[in-house]
Amino acid sequence: MDIRKASESDLNDVLLVERSAFGGNNEAELVRELLEDPTAKPLLSLLALKGDRPVGHILFTKVRLSNSSQKAAILAPLAVVPDSQKQGIGGKLIEEGLQLLSKSGVGLVFVLGYPEYYPRHGFQPAGRLGFEATYPIPEKNADAWMVRELSAGVIGSVRGKVICASALNKPEYWRE
Ligand SMILES: CC(C)(COP(=O)(O)OP(=O)(O)OC[C@H]1O[C@@H](n2cnc3c(N)ncnc32)[C@H](O)[C@@H]1OP(=O)(O)O)[C@@H](O)C(=O)NCCC(=O)NCCS
Repeated sequence: MDIRKASESDLNDVLLVERSAFGGNNEAELVRELLEDPTAKPLLSLLALKGDRPVGHILFTKVRLSNSSQKAAILAPLAVVPDSQKQGIGGKLIEEGLQLLSKSGVGLVFVLGYPEYYPRHGFQPAGRLGFEATYPIPEKNADAWMVRELSAGVIGSVRGKVICASALNKPEYWRE
C-alpha cells in the first residue's frame, strides 16, 4: 500500500473513494468544495493506493484560532473503501498526514469524529482544553470534538474558537 499526495488529476479517484466509503455523495461534494476553496489552503490531500487502485483518502484543511496565529488544520473527511477497512489504512493516512503537517509547521490538528477511533492516534477532547468548535457541539457529543498537538506545549499555551474554511463553515457539518 502506497500513500501519496493527491493531485488535480486524481480528483475522480478521490471522489470515488469518498462515495464508496460513506455510501453517498455528501462527503464527496464537501471534498470537491474544499479543494476549490481558497480559504481552505494550505491543504493536504493524501491518497492511499493498493497497486493502481485507490482505496483511501484523507483531507486536512487550514483553520485558524480566533485569538492566536498558531498554524492549525482540521482533518475532514477520512475515507477507506469498505473492502479495505480494518487493515490499518485509515491509521496510516492519519499518521502520514500528521507527519507532513508537522514538517510544515502546523502545531494543532482538530477533528470532529469517532471518539473511540481518533484517540488511538493521539487526539483528545478539545473543548475542555479551551478550543471552541466552529459551531457548538451538543454536550452528549462533546468527546467527538478532538485535538492533537504536533509540537510539545502548544496545548495549554493557546486556546480560542476554531474558524474553518468557508466550505466547512456550515452548521450541518457540526452536528456529529
Ligand atoms: C473510519 C474509517 C476511516 C477507518 O478506516 P480503517 O482503515 O478501517 O481504520 P484502521 O484499519 O486504521 O483502524 C481500524 C480500527 O478502527 C475501528 N473503527 C472503525 N470505525 C470505527 C468507529 N466508527 N468507531 C470506533 N472504532 C472504529 C475498527 O473497529 C478497527 O478496530 P480494531 O483495530 O480494534 O479492529 C473507515 O472505516 C471508513 O472509511 N468508514 C466510513 C467513513 C467514515 O466513517 N469516516 C470517518 C469519519 S470521522
